[in-house]
Amino acid sequence: MELPDERRHIRLRRLIPTTTLALTAIFCGLLCFHDVNPSKADDPGIGNREGNGKGDEEDSRAAFLAAYKVLMHPRCMNCHPAGDIPLQGDDSHLHAQNVKRGPDGKGLYALKCANCHQERNLAGDNMPPGNPNWHLPSPEMPLVFQGKTPGELARQLKDPKTNGNKTLEQLLHHVTEDKLVLGGWDPGDGRTRPPLSHAEFVKKMREWVEKGAVVPD
Ligand code: HEC
Ligand code: HEC
Repeated sequence: MELPDERRHIRLRRLIPTTTLALTAIFCGLLCFHDVNPSKADDPGIGNREGNGKGDEEDSRAAFLAAYKVLMHPRCMNCHPAGDIPLQGDDSHLHAQNVKRGPDGKGLYALKCANCHQERNLAGDNMPPGNPNWHLPSPEMPLVFQGKTPGELARQLKDPKTNGNKTLEQLLHHVTEDKLVLGGWDPGDGRTRPPLSHAEFVKKMREWVEKGAVVPD
């Protein structure tokens, strides 16, 4: 009796893929429920997660310490001074010509930043770097970097009350897209660049945020 045997064989051959498919579907379903639903319900939002344990916490802290070297580099810190006078040069000395922040960060009285800082860098050493929007943060939200420890700076950057009302996602957007930030890597003749590339810096900031925005000691 060849035929029934053959048929059973065929039926079996059809059954195996169908069963495999069904099992896979059930398995995936379980995985999805397990993964998506609870996290959707209690996801506290980017940067407020506890992180997935010790490893993430350490990675987040290390990522911030790497980004901190860029934030404190003169190309960045010179516009984030502790006082009302911008800083100049790799030694971050006070800006010459009695330049001051002013009520909107764009200079006091007639000494406006834009008088000297043009839309583009001017060629040659000791020429003012250029940018259409060259200015300091406002006196109400001075975003001081100078003199801050990693812990103090991390706390300031996390808190919308001290970071210019930004969510952590907006903070990442700022460091990715902002023209003054990008200018740090095109600083004009004779100026050093920050210790990481812009892409590496953004990657570190993102890692810091996504692994819990941990504040170092
Ligand atoms: C009178 C002209 C003048 C005015 C006004 C002026 N600057 Fe400058 N600024 C310069 C010059 C020139 C340099 C370059 C100095 C050098 O490299 O030795 C400079 C350099 C700087 C630097 C250092 C850049 C770096 O990467 O080290 C910063 C920061 C800066 N200015 C901020 C400002 C801000 C903010 C304002 C307005 C509040 C302003 N400046 C107004 C002329 C001016
Ligand atoms: C010409 C001056 C200038 C330079 C140079 C500059 N910044 Fe800023 N920065 C500002 C101003 C002004 C603001 C506030 C404007 C805003 O919030 O959009 C700001 C805001 C920021 C913020 C947001 C602060 C916060 O707490 O949310 C970060 C982060 C930042 N800058 C990083 C940098 C880095 C990194 C560099 C160097 C690669 C740099 N800046 C160079 C002027 C400058």
